Amino acid sequence: MLSKNSHVSRTLFAILAITGLLVVVLQSAGAQNNQPQSGTTPRHVRVIWRTAPATEAIVAWTTSEQGTSHKVEYAAGDETEWHSVESVDTQQFDGQVKRGTAPYVHSAQLAELTPATKYRVRCLSDEETSREYYFYTAPDDKRPIALIYGGDSRSGWGERMAMNRMMANMVAEQSKAGRPEIVALAHGGDFIVNGTDLPQWLTWLEHCEQTTGTDGRLLPIVPARGNHDMGPIFNQLFAFPKESENYYAGNLSGNVRLATLNTETVTGGEQREWLADELAEHRWDTTWYLAQYHKPAFPAVKIPSGALPNWVPLFDQYKIDLACEADGHVIKRTSPLRNGKIDAEGVVYIGEGGLGVGQRTPKTGRWFLQETAEHCGSDHHLHLITFYDDRMEVRVITMAGEVFDEFTLKPHQQD
Ligand SMILES: [Fe+2]
Repeated sequence: MLSKNSHVSRTLFAILAITGLLVVVLQSAGAQNNQPQSGTTPRHVRVIWRTAPATEAIVAWTTSEQGTSHKVEYAAGDETEWHSVESVDTQQFDGQVKRGTAPYVHSAQLAELTPATKYRVRCLSDEETSREYYFYTAPDDKRPIALIYGGDSRSGWGERMAMNRMMANMVAEQSKAGRPEIVALAHGGDFIVNGTDLPQWLTWLEHCEQTTGTDGRLLPIVPARGNHDMGPIFNQLFAFPKESENYYAGNLSGNVRLATLNTETVTGGEQREWLADELAEHRWDTTWYLAQYHKPAFPAVKIPSGALPNWVPLFDQYKIDLACEADGHVIKRTSPLRNGKIDAEGVVYIGEGGLGVGQRTPKTGRWFLQETAEHCGSDHHLHLITFYDDRMEVRVITMAGEVFDEFTLKPHQQD
């Protein structure tokens, strides 16, 4: 007869064995995917948005071998004539892979595009051509649009893949139902665990392909750097110049502007000056102004980052609408905050990363979370933000596809 203790330990062992098996299965699934196919077959095709998403897009892809000639071909709508961009930046990824040499990353800038237009696109490396994909440029008018915001896809590969598949489904469903189009994914950083580990990035790229629809629709990405995304691979993979500090801003429509900031470099100094100039020049160009960055100014778990002293006074002064934060691994919504107090005219801070990583418990006793405690929680999630002329609707969608939280914001008025 089993004693109670041995029964407990057998049960524990069974759980550990199943968990271990699952980890091995998931890791080997990832490991198989760590190398692009041989030769110059284009893989990991993606669109990256920077400062002018209505008229410009970066198309990037990966090949195993360097190749000698690379180009992107694109055509608007059902145009039969393909345009070609032959100015392609090719670099070998920094870092090591277990077998063979590190793969190559290619990127090309498409410019002078027409806003709110479907572009078919394919990548060519030597004799190899990718499948035909497509994406939409951002509108430059005030039509309603939607944006997915999320962060912290760094671990929990099964959950990461589930969230990616959910994004692709959401994009397709939203479009089919005639609801405002989801224009992009804004990612608040911590894509992977160790930013200098190339196989982790290659696995992330493999998983990122699941955000692409079965019909080839690419979801443009607007990336922010997280503390785990250290090292040169981040800039290579997202086609930033080598020395880029990764802060920039662009319009997602004629009505929505998004600033991406970087908490992983000096938050004061030049970055603060850049933000002050950016807000002075562009804050009131659009009804809605958002910021995204990794480490929170108003954290639900950890301590405030440099965003609090360096950026929040500017957010307050220019009355931005929403600050999208990550890093804490919880579902968070603050009260509207201004000048260190709860204020109906203030900025709402959301977050904090649920695209894969294990979730923590939010500290809802903090003054900026006390009134919103019931809207905070612990679950894998993303934010679906829909912008209309007169309101912004924010929904937190969990991995199970359920709405955990939803709220509406009215536009701020210029003082
Ligand atoms: Fe982080």
